[in-house]
Amino acid sequence: MTPTASSPGVNDGTTVESPMTTVLIPGSFDPLHLGHIDVVDQAAELFGDVVLGVLVNFDKPSGLFSPDERVELARASLVGRSSVSVRAFGGLAVQAAAEVGADFIVKGLRTPNDFDIEQQMAHTNHSVTGIRTVFVPCRSDLGFISSRFIREIAAHGEPIDHLVAAPVAVALADRFARPSHE
Ligand code: PNS
Repeated sequence: MTPTASSPGVNDGTTVESPMTTVLIPGSFDPLHLGHIDVVDQAAELFGDVVLGVLVNFDKPSGLFSPDERVELARASLVGRSSVSVRAFGGLAVQAAAEVGADFIVKGLRTPNDFDIEQQMAHTNHSVTGIRTVFVPCRSDLGFISSRFIREIAAHGEPIDHLVAAPVAVALADRFARPSHE
């Protein structure tokens, strides 16, 4: 029998078949910026399904946007990417990864300074559940972007439109237009 491309589970040698991989990208995303989006796009291309997980960083428990707002802004910023979903999680990154059936955690690296803490987290997470972390270098021209500096610059009324997607720029302008943030 001649195998056909449409035969389920049959590789006729003209295509490379690989099992679907799901990865979790955990982070604070307060707010999501263009560097994050680059890493999401790279992960979707490399692995397949991407779950962007909005988690609590215990070193920075209170943020500018609430977890629900961060999820909404990330969804709006990532619209049109059918293999990418966004969710908030309350516990550990390893628990979020297990909940969504992630094969790997993916972390973006902006600068060499990121590596030390990310390597420590990767080893710690692996020690807890055995999940592996894959590092993806952020595009070099976006590697300087940080959510913290975006918040600071927006708070003082300077433009951040070149650093974030349009829904985040609008939300920041709206947030800092309110007198409570003067
Ligand atoms: O964007 P951030 O703030 O660098 O992301 C850090 C984050 C949220 C991924 C990290 O703090 C985290 O994984 N928090 C969830 C709690 C957890 O799993 N802690 C153990 C880390 S080894």
